[in-house]
Amino acid sequence: MPKPPPVFDFHLLLLLTVISAINAAAGAWPITQQFKEAAQFYNSLSCPTIIVADKDGFLCSDQAVHVAMTLDSAYIRGSMAAVLSVLQHSSCPQNIAFHFVASATANASLLRATISSSFPYLNFQVYAFDDSSVSRLISTSIRSALDCPLNYARSYLANLLPSCVRRVVYLDSDLVLVDDIAKLSATQLGDNSVLAAPEHCNANFTYYFTPTFWSNPTLSLTFANREACYFNTGVMVIDLDRWRQGDYTRKIEEWMEIQKRMRIYELGSLPPFLLVFAGNIVPVDHRWNQHGLGGDNFRGLCRDLHPGPVSLLHWSGKGKPWARLDANRPCPLDALWAPYDLLQTPFTLDS
Ligand SMILES: *[C@@H]1O[C@H](CO)[C@@H](O)[C@H](O)[C@H]1NC(C)=O
Ligand SMILES: *[C@@H]1O[C@H](CO)[C@@H](O)[C@H](O)[C@H]1NC(C)=O
Repeated sequence: MPKPPPVFDFHLLLLLTVISAINAAAGAWPITQQFKEAAQFYNSLSCPTIIVADKDGFLCSDQAVHVAMTLDSAYIRGSMAAVLSVLQHSSCPQNIAFHFVASATANASLLRATISSSFPYLNFQVYAFDDSSVSRLISTSIRSALDCPLNYARSYLANLLPSCVRRVVYLDSDLVLVDDIAKLSATQLGDNSVLAAPEHCNANFTYYFTPTFWSNPTLSLTFANREACYFNTGVMVIDLDRWRQGDYTRKIEEWMEIQKRMRIYELGSLPPFLLVFAGNIVPVDHRWNQHGLGGDNFRGLCRDLHPGPVSLLHWSGKGKPWARLDANRPCPLDALWAPYDLLQTPFTLDS
């Protein structure tokens, strides 16, 4: 079988990702990053005791809070901080199961060892995501970072995680929680909804899709009779049973196939989610995704919090707090990420 061109795009993207990872780490090769061991976190007395035969039983338990995140060498510092923040603000940290999705081409044993050495007591599993299946569907977009195949892993959680996991909170790697994740995970999804997320109904959808999309009546009718609101896919509560029943992965892939032929949107993994789910999700309080703290997509300008209470800070956008802190050019709010940074600096290694 001849190799299709997207395979070459994938390697180019991989190269760009590696280069940006090197830049982000200010010259340090990401794989040499050493992380400190986090403190152990204990359940409070009121937490239910999860009685299971083994680790697999725990990773299946309906009583556990299930969290899914991606794991790669470029963002691992962010992932470690996110995990620490989840544990630290949880009243039942020992009842959390982490499901990490890594590229099938990544060194899973290295990722596993890295997590275990910082969180020796963590209940977690690493799943291999075959990114070649999705890179076939990815069209090149203006921001190559968004086209990293692992970005699309959130669309495949229902297949990747064992079928006994029925509900999961998906989290991006560039965020920290300052509240108990059990509250977010307990979001009521009603009789039919597949997912819940904070939504923004004043967003103008015109900008998310191309004129090709809007001028095609068959396509643009997708949003007819729907109160479609924007939502950020970096924080989602997903009913995996309903997702599997409705075959939503297939529905997202169908839009990606159309995108490859016709270019109906500019950004990466977000628009297919909007096409399938916008208008049909359960709204979550905005405190659970104070997003945009990474700043402007092109210049990385600093952003402020949206008004209101804060349970989760999300550095979506181009700038990442670890990169700005390393470069000695932090934004004011990056100081709120720093306490969760587990990176072992050369100084602390020597001491
Ligand atoms: C993966 O990482 C481990 C260290 O945990 C190392 O021993 C091994 O050689 C690595 N494998 C590959 C294929 O790089
Ligand atoms: C959305 O933006 C487009 C293009 O600027 C404009 O024509 C349209 O009126 C806007 N819609 C709303 C509801 O503001």
